[in-house]
Amino acid sequence: MTSLSRDTVVGVVGAGAMGSGIAQLAATNGHKVLLFDQDASALDRAMAAIEKNLARSVEKNRITGDHGAEIRNRISTAGWETDGADAYADLKNAGLVIEAIIESLEVKRALFASLDKVVAPDAILATNTSSLSITAIARASLRPERVLGIHFFNPPTVLPLVEIVPGLATSQEVTDASRSLMEEWGRKPVVASDTPGFIVNRIARPFYGEALRIYEEGIADMATIDWAMKEIGGFRMGPFELMDFIGNDVNFAATRSVYEATFHDARFRPTLTQQRLFDAGFFGRKTGRGYYDYSPGVTMPEPNQDRELGELIFRRILSMLINQAADALYLRIASAHDIDTAMTLGVNYPKGLLAWADELGIPETVKWLSALQDFYGEERYRPSPLLKTMAADGFTFFST
Ligand code: NAI
Repeated sequence: MTSLSRDTVVGVVGAGAMGSGIAQLAATNGHKVLLFDQDASALDRAMAAIEKNLARSVEKNRITGDHGAEIRNRISTAGWETDGADAYADLKNAGLVIEAIIESLEVKRALFASLDKVVAPDAILATNTSSLSITAIARASLRPERVLGIHFFNPPTVLPLVEIVPGLATSQEVTDASRSLMEEWGRKPVVASDTPGFIVNRIARPFYGEALRIYEEGIADMATIDWAMKEIGGFRMGPFELMDFIGNDVNFAATRSVYEATFHDARFRPTLTQQRLFDAGFFGRKTGRGYYDYSPGVTMPEPNQDRELGELIFRRILSMLINQAADALYLRIASAHDIDTAMTLGVNYPKGLLAWADELGIPETVKWLSALQDFYGEERYRPSPLLKTMAADGFTFFST
């Protein structure tokens, strides 16, 4: 029986944006934390960021100064002087190690192989990968049954969603123990199968991809598409604004990775518009230019606030999103409850997509998708078999 408790020592390897947040979260929840990085300056930056966050919590009276110091003192950093397994020797007492190093299968596999040599045989080894196969990473370990994905969202101290992703060889008790621990940390864990993009990064693709198609076809400009999704759909940001915020390099990489990993499923096909933006280095807010120009003095384009056009844009994109959510359920990537939780907590959608489908009527979504498929003759628009069956039988995802 595997159980993880506050007494479990947590190792975190990789002290970048994610690793530092995960270390802070674990220490806040009472764990002794060992934070590693191959780069000493990354460790310094991580500890400075953690101290700043804790100081802010003290200022806002969320925690006392003593409590903040206690949390800080639970974290120790190490591991930069030597390469290889010796660097991680202190991890022998860890019950859980969470890896948050660069997104490279080769580098992650090398790390998991070296962790095996120092970590206790019953420890759980987790990866925070967003796009790589958990099963492929686990294969580098001699204990693939104790390896799984624990995928946090950025920043991990703020966003409660965590995707728990067992690989093909992961044991049920490891999945259950990890899920329980995340609940104890005040997170909202959902379980996803080891498939490209897991839940959120897979289902969210049409929010960007279909918006880009609508733009490429000249149906509407970017400002109008953003306006429609916010004003009519109730989304916090429009697709183009959001891509500029996330970074077009990051978003394009996620799009390409899901497309490649699904063996070129047409539903996930990237667009040339995004490729060219990427080619130009127009990565969004961080480079001052993306889909929009953020240079000082440049005014944002005005949307065409035609409600009929807005409805059409919103319903087309929403139908594609619901289709992805339904297909994820059909392919047993996650439960209906976990799919809706993931999209509302992970990317702040105003409603769960399956609940939204129930509200609008599943036959209505099938009608939209079938009309798109008839018109374009593209596989991209094929309705999920689950939606078709449910529409024919009058079923809903959730009972009212
Ligand atoms: P980052 O670039 O901020 O940090 C990575 C850190 O790992 C760096 O400090 C680097 O020095 C260190 N590192 C690289 N190779 C190492 C090795 N072999 N041993 C020890 N340390 C090593 O990256 P970030 O954004 O924190 O991402 C980390 C992981 O989390 C990636 O797998 C990424 O896909 C995933 N992720 C990232 C999210 C994000 O929004 N940034 C969200 C969810 C997951």
